[in-house]
Amino acid sequence: MDNYDVVVIGGGPGGYVAAIRCAQLGMKTACVEKWQDNKGKTVLGGTCLNVGCIPSKALLDSSHHFENITSHAKDHGITIENAQMDVGKMLKRKDKIVKILTMGVAGLFKKHHITLLEGTGSLKSNNEIEITSIDGKNQSVSAKSIIIATGSVPATLPPAPVDNDLIVDSTGALDFSEVPESLGVIGAGVIGLELGSVWRRLGSNVTVIEALEEFMPAADHDIASAAEKELIKQGLNIQLGAKMTACENKNGKVKVQYEQNGESHDLKVDKLIVAIGRKPNTDGLHAEQAGLKLDDRGFIETDGQCRTNLDNVYAIGDVIHGPMLAHKAMEEGVAVAELIDGQKPDFSHDNIPWVVYTWPEIAWVGKTEHQLKEEGRHIRVGNFPFMATGRARAMNETSGLIKMIGDAETDELLGVHIFGPNASELISEAVLARSFEGSTEDIARTVHAHPTLSEAMHEAALSVDGRTLHL
Ligand code: FAD
Ligand code: NAI
Repeated sequence: MDNYDVVVIGGGPGGYVAAIRCAQLGMKTACVEKWQDNKGKTVLGGTCLNVGCIPSKALLDSSHHFENITSHAKDHGITIENAQMDVGKMLKRKDKIVKILTMGVAGLFKKHHITLLEGTGSLKSNNEIEITSIDGKNQSVSAKSIIIATGSVPATLPPAPVDNDLIVDSTGALDFSEVPESLGVIGAGVIGLELGSVWRRLGSNVTVIEALEEFMPAADHDIASAAEKELIKQGLNIQLGAKMTACENKNGKVKVQYEQNGESHDLKVDKLIVAIGRKPNTDGLHAEQAGLKLDDRGFIETDGQCRTNLDNVYAIGDVIHGPMLAHKAMEEGVAVAELIDGQKPDFSHDNIPWVVYTWPEIAWVGKTEHQLKEEGRHIRVGNFPFMATGRARAMNETSGLIKMIGDAETDELLGVHIFGPNASELISEAVLARSFEGSTEDIARTVHAHPTLSEAMHEAALSVDGRTLHL
């Protein structure tokens, strides 16, 4: 039996980053991965690289270009007639990006001498793993430490079973061979809004059915309300407080029935995306036989530092509590490797940024105004609209705002919430300021280049103290 210092189960962003950091720290490392591409080749990168963050952003980018050309180029004096989207080429570009990046991770494994064990990994004990290859062969390896990074899978909705033809999950929604004339989306969460936007921009008539009465309750209310208005203006038909009651295949279309305000509604669409959340994935791990504790929702229980109830067995990423985000999984991967190495890593879950890649984008870090008010905190709030910045005007990107919240007594930066162009990049300044336990005044006293979108961040900080310069 081969022996390793560390074996990581799962080669997604959590697992592959953990493996790299372990190898950097001099540990003999292996990673078990079962994901295969359509040619039967084992690929690394997990959900994020294969069917998540990267392919969805590739399609968001292509569709954003298309919408700019068809709807906004004329504002710049550019005439383009009869612009067409070749969906096949768009999908090929996306697939090529995925291939390059997953091969890149394989290259990193070679560089760091990490052994890839191909197949499904299951726990035999807290220092032995069995790997079952696709052709059913078993091998066992031993490890001083085990890191479980088996990720998550889409949650299912019994009345709307995924058939990968008319009814799809997020993976199927990345691969429509043509733009559906009409598209239904169950769930106005991150996937529903991002992938709903992709196909709307390409001409689909998109209806989003959301069970909750409130739009994006996790976001700050002002930001959610600005985003909701803008997305509706763009053409997304968002139905809140709508509960799906039945779904059937009718002559090659999907007939969805839902209830809203006590009334029954029918919706007929060419395709339906089910995007109602994701659930932790412990399939094939034999967690229970090994005595690994899961909670009642199937997440692996950890102690806040990714330690499970089994000695020397750790878990990271989507399979444990916390936001299901690639950067959270990666940071946990680094922290766990350093913990195994005997270091004292410090990774705060309070500073994980959220980004929704609609356009304009939505991004935040820290707490919302309503959370802080519920906690009884005394706060000061600043706002600044992008339309008051020169750069946003020059770009024709005037929608949205930045909202900044500081503690009323200490001025500690408690939260920053953005709806606007490039919010995904702008939020990093706020994450950094919070990581250094900074104040809104620290941002107010920082020089921001002119003309940039980041001036809205500067002005929002000035606004906390009632001294904006350009409003
Ligand atoms: P995963 O990426 O799910 O990887 C787990 C890996 O473990 C997989 O490769 C799987 O094959 C393997 N595995 C599972 N069980 C076993 C086993 N028993 N043996 C061997 N291998 C096993 N997050 C963001 O931060 N930004 C985004 O923009 C973003 N966009 C997304 C878009 C979509 C459409 C989706 C679906 C998700 C998106 N996410 C995004 C979420 C992100 O993909 C996940 O949070 C992230 O991939 C979690 O990483 P992970 O390593 O924990 O798990
Ligand atoms: P989500 O949790 O973001 O949203 C699911 C939505 O579906 C919620 O609003 C929920 O109220 C609604 N819903 C649940 N059951 C329903 C029902 N029966 N009928 C109607 N609505 C219902 O989950 P989503 O969009 O599936 O994404 C999963 C996760 O993947 C995200 O939470 C996030 O962690 C990750 N992700 C991150 C992205 C990013 O960082 N940009 C992009 C895409 C996914």
